[in-house]
Amino acid sequence: MTRTVYVNGEYLPETEAKVSIFDRGFLMADGVYEVTSVLDGKLIDFDGHLARLERSLTELDMDKPDQFDDLLEIHRELVRLNGIEEGMIYLQVTRGAPGDRDFAFPDAETTRPTLVLFTQNKPGLADSPAAKTGIKVISIDDIRWGRRDIKTVQLLYPSMGKMMAKKAGCDDAWMVEDGFVTEGTSNNAYIVKGGKIITRQLSNDILHGITRAAVLRFAREAQMEVEERPFTIEEAQGADEAFITSASTFVFPVIEIDGAKLGEGTPGPAAKRLREIYLDESRKAAI
Ligand code: PDD
Repeated sequence: MTRTVYVNGEYLPETEAKVSIFDRGFLMADGVYEVTSVLDGKLIDFDGHLARLERSLTELDMDKPDQFDDLLEIHRELVRLNGIEEGMIYLQVTRGAPGDRDFAFPDAETTRPTLVLFTQNKPGLADSPAAKTGIKVISIDDIRWGRRDIKTVQLLYPSMGKMMAKKAGCDDAWMVEDGFVTEGTSNNAYIVKGGKIITRQLSNDILHGITRAAVLRFAREAQMEVEERPFTIEEAQGADEAFITSASTFVFPVIEIDGAKLGEGTPGPAAKRLREIYLDESRKAAI
């Protein structure tokens, strides 16, 4: 199946879409991205992803792509053209492609940002087996740069972290800095103790997850107690349960951390409940 993708104003077959070899996303990882999930053919948390994209661009002093105001329409058109019922839309903006490699940012007259979007068809996304079985994580050092609040395409270390987890027979890695968990390789991390949901507070140390914001809001609305503070791997191993959130997983329970089973070693009730509420509410609010 050839996808229809979007590049700088054009809808094209994926085999015909092209970006310059001088693109700063390719040469310097000078780009930002968003992943928005699709359920029932509709976009989940679109406004949140758009707002975070705008913030990422501002923080990096990068111009908005010329088609910024049309992004909702472009997302919807890609969903339509590719017949996506469940899946994801990947969006990337880079600082463009000046005619040569240079560390200094190019002048606005030299190039415009590159905008690329493509769909990922994932039938069964909302019914993933991992939501029922839970996932196993290992801990690794967090050696990423200091602006993790900006959603840049610098994903080599998270990618290596995923491989370390795979090698250890696990599903993902939680990153640890100064003794405390920051987040998962591509998700936010939570523990639950005595009914209280604990997750690291927002700062430059973690990505401000759009799913995180929604899940914490739903948790509070459901009278669940939420505490935003750092926690250690030891505290997590002694917790009643743990889970992760992201646009591609929604809520996945964590059943094992560095070989230590949490509680019974099966998905816990808080993660299960939050996943259900998140999916229900998000489907209702999808656009
Ligand atoms: N990743 N933390 C990191 C480091 C992430 O890469 C992500 C998302 C999240 C969760 O953010 P959100 O809830 O807005 O998806 C947290 C996406 C899904 C990815 O890279 O595919």
